Amino acid sequence: MKNKVLVINGTVSPIEKSYSIELTNQFVDEYKKLNKEDEIIYLDLNKEEMAQKTLTRENMSNYFNENDAIKYINQLKEVNKVIISSPMNNFNVSALIKNYLDHVLLADHSFSYKYAKKDGSVGLLDHLKVQILTTQGAPLGWYPFGDHTAFLKGTFEFVGAKVNEPILFAGTKVDPISKMNPKEAISTINDTIKNVVAKF
Ligand SMILES: Cc1cc2nc3c(=O)[nH]c(=O)nc-3n(C[C@H](O)[C@H](O)[C@H](O)COP(=O)(O)O)c2cc1C
Repeated sequence: MKNKVLVINGTVSPIEKSYSIELTNQFVDEYKKLNKEDEIIYLDLNKEEMAQKTLTRENMSNYFNENDAIKYINQLKEVNKVIISSPMNNFNVSALIKNYLDHVLLADHSFSYKYAKKDGSVGLLDHLKVQILTTQGAPLGWYPFGDHTAFLKGTFEFVGAKVNEPILFAGTKVDPISKMNPKEAISTINDTIKNVVAKF
């Protein structure tokens, strides 16, 4: 079966210096080797007006409009797989990713019955398989209260998606990774990437 794979990128790093973009590129390269027919669709949130818009009291009534919300929810409905990459920014996903999620997490479109009872919500994107690729400056465990990887996993599971084993590349701001360029750094986890790709 030919899949449509949406690749969402939410880093604010310059492209050539970005570990999360390099991680995504190496993941997609390995994925294409196993899934030659699949269509890859790229969504760089830096280029989407929607992802610059934060929900406020002023814009609440028009926030979930056709162009900013429905269009992107429909895109999620039209693909089979999502690869989403985010660095940690102040202990969470980047604001671009948060703004994207704020638009697409819409009751009766991507989930329903959120408040009926705990765990009683129904995810409406249960056709999706999702791969989470995250980076962070600090090594794993330095700030346990900040876990953007778990946040993304829980969020996509909430809308019914099946989430593959995430890859977190931690410690990008710390020696020895900080001394490597993104290509060298991400190449050190090539085996992990291959293993995870095989399950996606
Ligand atoms: C505004 C900003 C906030 C950041 N906050 C954190 C943080 O809270 N924790 C952390 O470990 N790294 C933090 N970092 C470091 C980035 O997560 C890290 O450099 C990441 O690799 C950058 O994205 P990239 O992987 O696309 O290059 C922050 C970076 C920026 C620019």
